[in-house]
Amino acid sequence: MTAARPAAAPARNTTSVPTIPIGSPLLLLGRGADRGAERGVVCAGDLPAPDDPTLAARARDAKAALGERVMVLGHHYQRDQVIEFADARGDSFELSRQAATAEAPYLVFCGVHFMAESASILGREDQTVILPDLAAGCSMADMAEGRQVVDAWARLERAGVAAQTVPLTYMNSTAAIKSFCGEHGGAICTSSNAPAAMRWAFEQAPGGGDDGKVLFLPDQHLGRNTAVLSLGLSLDDCVVYDPWQPDGGLTDEQLREARVILWKGHCSVHARFQPSMVERIRAERPGVEVLVHPECRHEVVLEADRVGSTGQIIRWVEQAPAGATVAIATELNLVKRLAEEHPDKDVVFLDDTVCFCATMNRIDLPHLVWVLEALVAGEVVNEVRVDATTRRWARVALERMLALPGDGASLTAVVGTAS
Ligand code: 13P
Ligand code: SF4
Repeated sequence: MTAARPAAAPARNTTSVPTIPIGSPLLLLGRGADRGAERGVVCAGDLPAPDDPTLAARARDAKAALGERVMVLGHHYQRDQVIEFADARGDSFELSRQAATAEAPYLVFCGVHFMAESASILGREDQTVILPDLAAGCSMADMAEGRQVVDAWARLERAGVAAQTVPLTYMNSTAAIKSFCGEHGGAICTSSNAPAAMRWAFEQAPGGGDDGKVLFLPDQHLGRNTAVLSLGLSLDDCVVYDPWQPDGGLTDEQLREARVILWKGHCSVHARFQPSMVERIRAERPGVEVLVHPECRHEVVLEADRVGSTGQIIRWVEQAPAGATVAIATELNLVKRLAEEHPDKDVVFLDDTVCFCATMNRIDLPHLVWVLEALVAGEVVNEVRVDATTRRWARVALERMLALPGDGASLTAVVGTAS
């Protein structure tokens, strides 16, 4: 297909993000949309047929026609058919760095909604961020709503601990929550800099040192693993705040004694891994090295040889000697790709059943072709744009994160308890 140059000012099909989303009516898959949260479940579009044999050629042609006007960013968990077209691949941290420095006026984000929002926050205001399927949300991010976080903060105030608490949110959260953290003296972290970010947060707490507390959103597992394995806190120093329970399910005394207040959220992909899977793989493949992502449960991480972000897992596989056997607990698209790229090593998936991230997988070649060809035709579809008020503080929080040491500050040094 021959593609024309894009018109100067494309028509827009925009989603904007209110400062604090409210309410959470049940939205059935494919019906309704909540543009203020991660629950964009509708993606109306005249998509090419998935069995169109020319899809890859169409994507190539559209990219060629757009030239330097478009940059495609791809998270490592994307399908092979999509990641092939990424100009930059990375984990959440790397992609946020890329978005902050990208020159292209159009950023097509092949990842999930919170990542596209972060690109919109970090990019220039004249840049346009496009998410090929608005239904590509994140179940973990959906576990914390802006309104719930405001309520939680009020709960900390009632318990008399808000003044000594710094909020720290994982990248996997809505723009509204990132903004809340920025406005309340906190920051963002990803799995590659969580230890540095949590140390930073404790340093910011008024009085610092022993009196400080961190409210960690929304992944309880990353928060717990970081607090215990990297910062040397105990499990008893951590409490879990449940936004669906009165008072968060915690007494004032529990809140006063806690050092880390973990939000009750988790990744539906990484939380599937169990210690029994590590036990089984060690029995089946003696000498195996078990690499896990810090979104995994603490009991799983304790059984692993190494724990690290997606980028770190990739580097460990690259560095493993030929003939090594490596079992990995993270998203399956990435594990399959690593196995294909390293035929001299035995790279296996830790789970015994299929475990793709369903929302990452929503970005497929038909959606990518659709948004690229629309751009070529002068139309912007599926734009993700964070409103100016939310953006202001969310950007502060993201910039605090980008100023921290990145990869290298992993949890890897402190695990390795098994074999
Ligand atoms: P990282 O990209 O920081 O490793 O996070 C993994 C993830 O679950 C992204 O959704
Ligand atoms: Fe969200 Fe987990 Fe999927 Fe990442 S892998 S997008 S945290 S559900």
